[in-house]
Amino acid sequence: MRGEADLEDMSLETASPRRATDGPLAPDYVRFCAGIKSLTGIDLGQYRPAQMERRLRTFAERNGSKDLDAYLTTLKGDKNALDGFLDRMTINVSELFRNPERFKELETDIMPRLLAAHPRGLKIWSAGCSYGAEVYSLFILAKELAPRASHELHAYDLDERVLARAKAGVFSPTDMRNVSPERRAKWFTEVAGPSGPEWHAKDELRRGIQFKRFDLLKDRFPTGMHLIACRNVVIYFNDDAKDILYKKFLDALVPAGVLFVGSTERINGSEEMGWEKAGTFFYGRPGR
Ligand SMILES: C[S@@+](CC[C@H](N)C(=O)[O-])C[C@H]1O[C@@H](n2cnc3c(N)ncnc32)[C@H](O)[C@@H]1O
Repeated sequence: MRGEADLEDMSLETASPRRATDGPLAPDYVRFCAGIKSLTGIDLGQYRPAQMERRLRTFAERNGSKDLDAYLTTLKGDKNALDGFLDRMTINVSELFRNPERFKELETDIMPRLLAAHPRGLKIWSAGCSYGAEVYSLFILAKELAPRASHELHAYDLDERVLARAKAGVFSPTDMRNVSPERRAKWFTEVAGPSGPEWHAKDELRRGIQFKRFDLLKDRFPTGMHLIACRNVVIYFNDDAKDILYKKFLDALVPAGVLFVGSTERINGSEEMGWEKAGTFFYGRPGR
């Protein structure tokens, strides 16, 4: 992943002198993953171990725990510490129209094609939606291109706290930096917040999005989607988990439906898996 999340990773590395290395997994790491799975249902074993272990050891150190066993004991006994851990573990960095050139391609090429085939409205899924910047951006494009159509917007994430933020639809100046003045005026209300200006998504957008807590590694996928955005999420998953996920996305799309991935991501073996190239960082399900 690029940008802010990289910075976040780098700050974690700097904070921790101990680095996870290749080779067998440390026993306390294995015990920690098992403990978190029984505590929360989240399977850390499906994330890339080097990154995850490094991140966990940094959290443990910051918490004053001598190792991951001690950290797990703390998390079991302290709901706030557990919430804080889940917050940091999932890394929620996002912004509206992230990688604006890709959203331009969506606006001028991908969405018009999808709308030509489905003029009554698009069924769109933001998988790993974080605090909603991505799904609001997708909804704005769909509404601008086909204002009278009835679009269905689904936004799912593992992290309930970001979902609550996403439902509120409140964005910072940094989140808004790729949003034109016309779009700001049309889709948001500027409000003086406690730490500066905020942009609140208008009800017309907020009410049209269905948010749901969902684990991409575990839960049953929806079907019949015309467009899926899964961006900057799978970078933390191991290769097996990614393969399974991309196969499931293929099944979740209608024929000629499109998957939108992050601007540093690619699907390994995409053609063998059954994907067609649909654009820059867009993959299509074959068919008409
Ligand atoms: C970096 S954000 C990406 C947000 C947005 N897609 C974007 O590109 O701006 C990654 C999100 O993936 C979510 N996530 C991580 N693991 C997940 C899982 N197993 N199931 C669902 N969401 C997950 C995190 O909670 C986080 O909000």
